[in-house]
Amino acid sequence: MMRARITGTGMWVPERVVTNADLEKLMDTSDEWIRQRSGIVERRFVSEGETPALLAERAARQALEAAGLEPGDVDCIILATLSGHAEFPGTSFFLHEALGLDDTPCFDLHAQCTGFVYSLGVANSFVRSGQFRRVLVLGCEVHSTGIELATRGRDVAVLFGDGAGAVVVEANPDPEDPSGILAVQLHAEGRYARKLWIEAPGSGHPQRLTPEMLAEGRHYPKMEGRFVFKHAVTRMPEVLREALEVAGTKLEDVDLFLFHQANLRINEFVVGQLGIPPEKTYNNIQKYGNCSAASIPMLLAECERAGRLERGDLVSLTGFGSGFTWGSVVVRW
Ligand code: ACO
Repeated sequence: MMRARITGTGMWVPERVVTNADLEKLMDTSDEWIRQRSGIVERRFVSEGETPALLAERAARQALEAAGLEPGDVDCIILATLSGHAEFPGTSFFLHEALGLDDTPCFDLHAQCTGFVYSLGVANSFVRSGQFRRVLVLGCEVHSTGIELATRGRDVAVLFGDGAGAVVVEANPDPEDPSGILAVQLHAEGRYARKLWIEAPGSGHPQRLTPEMLAEGRHYPKMEGRFVFKHAVTRMPEVLREALEVAGTKLEDVDLFLFHQANLRINEFVVGQLGIPPEKTYNNIQKYGNCSAASIPMLLAECERAGRLERGDLVSLTGFGSGFTWGSVVVRW
């Protein structure tokens, strides 16, 4: 069966930098608290007129250019997000419009911070089955307009940022060329759906959004932070090892380990547990905060541009997020 490989990467973040000191003016928090607990120093927030589709378009155009393709060359678009442009349709349709496409299929995938890993799995299956030859896969989030930038929401609000990342997944027709996606392992545990969620507006309520819900702040994200932390540090090493086994490789063979950027402390803990040398990992949460589904493709784009990713490298991509969801992909670059 033909392998699917990643042939281009791209990322885009808004220009507006929001430092921890800026957040201190909006809520009772401190630079020290945020850095100590999460590692975050600053993040990017959109300005008026910057939509998720705009961020996605810029990331997509970079990835397409890197792959030597035009938007019309793509057979399908999958966009992972938890912060859609509208209630419906998904952000991918607004991206479709921005890319000037005709009738290319597109859809959003809703698996929160593991959304990109899930999407890569779907793209891999599309390509391997022969359904599509070229799939554009994105993660894109605008969190800043949906978090409570006040003391009541501070435990969540200080963690998130806006950004988009994109990759092009294409069939690798050359049997001599080893590059490709080698393994995809995905999991979910819906019993913890309410441990990290935004409950409204939602069709699970008789009325999707009421003035009472707004007053209670039920349209803002709610998280049991310690519970999430504990599960993230257990599930990520577990699924990473699983994916390596499926790929027939060992931990020592991996050149670069990339983890979802939820919290630097989570990643330090995971890396320590697995005994991964720090020089084999890369984090950018310090600059961008948690960009959920966008974090892994943003890492890929940054690493490629920084010369941290070379053809032939073995790369491990692992995420954990709301749902709960978790997954890991092994790629020969
Ligand atoms: N600034 C200052 N103080 C704060 C803030 C803030 N932004 N937020 C909470 N506090 C206070 C709390 O009110 C509490 O005060 P109290 O002791 O007087 O009651 C104190 O700080 C400690 O609160 P905890 O919630 O116990 O803090 P904890 O040490 O657990 O750290 C954190 C919180 C950083 C969220 C941690 O639980 C964590 O990292 N969880 C992982 C979840 C995560 O990273 N989620 C990201 C999104 S999910 C994902 O992408 C997978």
